[in-house]
Amino acid sequence: MIKRGIFITFEGGEGSGKSTQAKILYDYLIQRQISTILTREPGGTEQSEEIRNILLSGNKNKWDGVSETLLHYASRREHLKKKIIPALEKGIWVVCDRYCLSTEAYQGAGYGVSINFIKYLEKEVCEDLNPDLTFILDLKEKESLKRLERRNENNRYEDLDIGFHKKVSKYFKSAKKTKKNNFIIINADNTIDNVSKKIILYIKQNFF
Ligand code: TYD
Repeated sequence: MIKRGIFITFEGGEGSGKSTQAKILYDYLIQRQISTILTREPGGTEQSEEIRNILLSGNKNKWDGVSETLLHYASRREHLKKKIIPALEKGIWVVCDRYCLSTEAYQGAGYGVSINFIKYLEKEVCEDLNPDLTFILDLKEKESLKRLERRNENNRYEDLDIGFHKKVSKYFKSAKKTKKNNFIIINADNTIDNVSKKIILYIKQNFF
């Protein structure tokens, strides 16, 4: 029987360096000859990338919060059924940039959509598939906005005000490790190298 792959997600506010860290971890796993895919949300499959374009472009107040939440979940369902689950079943590790916790933080804490409604979707749409491990990159919203100013292109979410980003950061920071959720909070106010050393050390100590 093939051993199921490990599902690792990266979460955090804007500019927290998730995508960079997800790529560094992916490269490390490949170098250790572990079959791994690197993917992202919203997106990850052709259909989910189409939904991503709808979600990230346009005016910051383009969507009603519940409609937006449903779009994120439509994208996630496609991603999960067509890419994540088939990979895990083949024994391939999956490193994913953002997952369900982002919907709780952005649409729930940020826009005020009911967390219970989001958790209900999580259970039904994701068939209770929880990541084996989630790294939450924690960065104060002021530093996060400073980093965003240095970027050229901003998506819809990045244009929202500091109050919104404060709520998002606070939600990520308060995420609690439970039996179902293996959340590891990492201080992202550090160099890329120092953050990645912590992440890889955790992987070495817990998986190899
Ligand atoms: P992206 O360019 O990938 O941003 P980042 O580099 O900060 O991850 O855009 C993803 C955006 O989508 C990000 O601003 C957060 C938002 N988002 C939600 O609001 N809800 C979600 O469930 C997910 C997955 C992302």
